[in-house]
Amino acid sequence: MGFFSGLGDRVVGGPSILAADFAYLADDVQKAKDGGAAFVHFDAMDNHFVPNLSVGPVVAASLVPSTDLPVDAHLMVSNPDNLIPMFLDAGVVSISVHPEVVTHLHRTLEMIRAGGAEAGVALNPTTPPESIEWALPYLDYILVLSVNPGFGGQTFIPESTEKIRRLKEMTDLPIAVDGGITVETAPLVVEAGARALVAGSAVFKGDPVVEMRRIVEAGQAALDRTPGS
Ligand code: DX5
Ligand code: ZN
Repeated sequence: MGFFSGLGDRVVGGPSILAADFAYLADDVQKAKDGGAAFVHFDAMDNHFVPNLSVGPVVAASLVPSTDLPVDAHLMVSNPDNLIPMFLDAGVVSISVHPEVVTHLHRTLEMIRAGGAEAGVALNPTTPPESIEWALPYLDYILVLSVNPGFGGQTFIPESTEKIRRLKEMTDLPIAVDGGITVETAPLVVEAGARALVAGSAVFKGDPVVEMRRIVEAGQAALDRTPGS
C-alpha cells in the first residue's frame, strides 16, 4: 500500500524542501523528521510553468537514500512526462502533476502508477475541483495549492478551504495542502478535510524539530475537535 492510500484518518506533515538549506538538505529533512514529519515534499520547478527554477531528479536521487521518509515529488513543470521516468528511477514514492499543463492527463497518471508510484494532481488556486472529476479513478491523492505555485513564503488563500470541502464531497481520496500552511492555517484545512500538510517556510523559519511538530499537532488537534470532518 502506498503512502497516501495508507494514510487513514490522521493528520501528517511534511516539509517542503524549497525552504530548506540546500547545502544541508539531508540534515534539514532529518530535523523535520525528528519533529514528526511523515514524508518529504520535493518541489521541482522549471521556470516555464512557474517563474522559478529549483531542483530535479538528480537531487531527488541523492535525497531519497539519505532519508527513510517517503519522498513525494510535486512537479511544477510544463512537460512532466519527460521527467517522470527519472523521478521514478530516483525512488520517489508519489508524484503530483498540474492538470493545467498536462494535455493527456490519463496517460500521465497511468505512467506514474505503472512506475510503482502513487499518482496525484496538484490544483492551482483557481482550478475548479470539477475539472478532475473524470481523473478520479486514476488518482491516489490530490494536492490543493493554497498559494500560487512558484515560491515559498506566500500568504494562504482563504478560499482553499472551500475547495477542499468541495473535493471531499466528490471523493474519498486523501487531500494534501501546500502553501502558506502554519499553526494558524493547519486547523482550517484539516477542518475542511485535508489530512496531509506541506509546510516550507513555517518549518524552516526556526527550529524544524519544533516547528514541524507544532504544525502537525495543530492539525491533529483540529481533527480531534471535529470528528467526521
Ligand atoms: C509553492 C510550493 C510549495 C512551497 C510552500 O510553489 O509548491 O511547496 O514551498 O512553501 P510555504 O510553506 O512557505 O508556503
Ligand atoms: Zn509544493
